Order: sequence, then structure tokens, then C-alpha cells
Amino acid sequence: MHKGSTYTIGKILVEKIATENDTVSQLFLPRDMPNFCVGCTKCILQDEQLCPHNEYTLPAAKLMNEADLLIFTTPVYVFHTTGQMKTFLDHFAYRWMVHRPEKSMFNKQAVVISTAAGAGMRPTNKDVTDSLYFWGVGRVYKYGIAVQATSWKGVSDTKKEKISHSMDKLCSKIKKRENNVTACLKTKILFKVMRIFQKKIGISPLDKIYWQNNGWLDKKRPWKH
Ligand SMILES: Cc1cc2nc3c(=O)[nH]c(=O)nc-3n(C[C@H](O)[C@H](O)[C@H](O)COP(=O)(O)O)c2cc1C
Repeated sequence: MHKGSTYTIGKILVEKIATENDTVSQLFLPRDMPNFCVGCTKCILQDEQLCPHNEYTLPAAKLMNEADLLIFTTPVYVFHTTGQMKTFLDHFAYRWMVHRPEKSMFNKQAVVISTAAGAGMRPTNKDVTDSLYFWGVGRVYKYGIAVQATSWKGVSDTKKEKISHSMDKLCSKIKKRENNVTACLKTKILFKVMRIFQKKIGISPLDKIYWQNNGWLDKKRPWKH
């Protein structure tokens, strides 16, 4: 919820990428996911609608399902993502490929942005990209920078210029794939492994039925081409 360096970098990217025809929606943490996952496993074993925090999870899921591009921003806290971000991601374990991945994810792009004073961007980005890859997001981009500051005001002009330039490059990569996103090789391999898993072993009958109903245990695939 605090609008520091990380939020500002995300905003710079949005300003570069969004046109007047786009809708930009934002979730702020912890406001939009204030409760820890309680580990009831209802989402995994029964139905995600039954999550005790469904007043937060369902709107967030709808927003993400409808979006063309997902941007996650997180500062580095003790070498990892924030507790708030982890709490958010914990609520979407049911949509990991090992369970019931959401079909629209395979044709989406996502960006993960982290900032640190000095170090820890790599494990922090991984904390988020682990979920994105296992959700099946087609293309995932990472950007981490040591801003050598604890607020955007303290970031040097040289750094700000470098960040702006990096956001330009990221923007053109994303635009190039706009309307033509397909899953990257990593996602396709993960899907293939999970498909074998669903066919041969499976964790819950619910997951298997989901895969069957989508035709994924046969010839159908969730990506466009
Ligand atoms: C609780 C806490 C833990 C932090 N841990 C790290 C860290 O492990 N490594 C680091 O380089 N900076 C660390 N920082 C500094 C922030 O990551 C850094 O200032 C970041 O740019 C803040 O982003 P923001 O302006 O978006 O809040 C920490 C800051 C806080 C408040």
C-alpha cells in the first residue's frame, strides 16, 4: 500500500505501456488480501469459491483472469518478497498446474518488479515467479534493481534514467507479443509433466475431472498455438 520505489517503477511501466483504450486496475496489499491463508485446503480439495476469504480471493481472481498483462511489484524484505505478497500468493495454490490451472493464464504476459536497497532481488523475484510459472502464465519477465535508497526520493537521477530505459525495453518486448502470446517452452514442459501426473497419479479426483473436462488429458491444450 505504500507508494515507494517499487510502486513507482510499476507505475512508470504502466504509463509507458497502457493506451487510452486500456483499463488499469490495481490491487494493494494488505488491503486487498488482508488475511493469512488458514490452511483449510477447501480451495484445493473442494472448490475455490469456498475459501473463507472469498470476498478477497474471488474479485482478485476475476481481475487477473480478465487481464492481458499482470504486473506484480514487491520490495525486498530480508532477501525475499514481503509477507503480504506471500499471503496473496498462498491463496492461489489451487490454480497451480499440479491442481487446476486457469486456462486464460497460458495466453497472458506477466512482469515481476522488485527493488532492494542493495541485494536480494533474485530470490524475491523467484518467490513470485514460482507461482506465475506454476499458474501457467505464458510469458514471465523479471526486473530487479538495487536502488540504494529507502524511498523513491532518495534514488539518484542516474538510477532513475536507467530504470526508465529498462522500462522502455520491457515495454517493447511486451508490445511485440501483444495479442499473440503463447506459452513459453518452460510452461509447456511443466504442463506436459503435470499432464502425465494427472493421468497416472493425481492428487484429488476434482483435479483430474477438471483436466478431463478441459480436454487436456486428450489432445487439447490451453495455449493458442
Ligand atoms: C523490513 C525490511 C527489510 C528489508 N530487507 C532488505 C534486504 O534484505 N536487502 C536489501 O537490499 N534491502 C532491504 N530493505 C530495503 C528495501 O528493500 C528497499 O529500500 C526497497 O527499495 C524499498 O522499496 P519501496 O520504496 O517500494 O518500499 C528492507 C527494507 C525493509 C523495510
